[in-house]
Amino acid sequence: MRRPIIAGNWKMYKTPAEAVEFVTRLREATTGLDGVEIVVAPPFPALAPVREVLAGSHIGLAAQNMFWETEGAFTGEVSPVMLAETGCRYVILGHSERRQYFGETDANVNHKVRAALEHGLVPIVCVGESLSEREAGLTEKVVTTQVEQCLAGLSSAAVAGLVIAYEPVWAIGTGRTASPDDAQEVNARIRELIGSLFGADAAALVRIQYGGSVKPDNTRELMSRPDIDGALVGGASLKVESFAGIVRGCEEAAKI
Ligand code: PGA
Repeated sequence: MRRPIIAGNWKMYKTPAEAVEFVTRLREATTGLDGVEIVVAPPFPALAPVREVLAGSHIGLAAQNMFWETEGAFTGEVSPVMLAETGCRYVILGHSERRQYFGETDANVNHKVRAALEHGLVPIVCVGESLSEREAGLTEKVVTTQVEQCLAGLSSAAVAGLVIAYEPVWAIGTGRTASPDDAQEVNARIRELIGSLFGADAAALVRIQYGGSVKPDNTRELMSRPDIDGALVGGASLKVESFAGIVRGCEEAAKI
């Protein structure tokens, strides 16, 4: 059984003080919701103070990005060693905003995925097609290439422990969610692909999230689909009520 994982990608929102206040309330609001793994991904300056508040709690910590080198003259970058020591268990890699605004390629993401794994971090690997790619019928082709290239060279055991986030770019921050059927269809394809590349065990164990305008009122339907193992949430993860509502919706769907 795959345990669903709901991760809040805060993007460039919340100062350290705001982050501490938020997770203090989130911890309370989600007490007892243990059917779902809960993760928050604050901006870098908030990681250490948030870790203090979350110590010993049911909520895990993620970073939103990292570089693949362990240290060196790479001004402005943060290494996997630093993230691990700061208490991160997860790191989001290859988010479409990183690809779009900072020129990240699948090859870069592959480098980062390998480095994260070497240092004991669990990558949340983001893939997804743009609107024009979807309209041109290229969704499967684009997502297949991304998965193949981002995970190239990994062992089956490593892939089994990963989280993949299917996030259609046209659904991110737009209020336009993929229909549960569309999201399920792509997630199932990704699982099939993982099976053919890394074997049946990896396919059965890898968790595949959906992301893109997930809100409390669409969570339950999305999460009740067999190949959707949680969500990567942007906008709706910034308010305690809505993020906790999504966790609750996911927990209810998982119990059906
Ligand atoms: P959204 O963002 O929930 O605001 O659409 C999702 C994401 O970027 O991970």
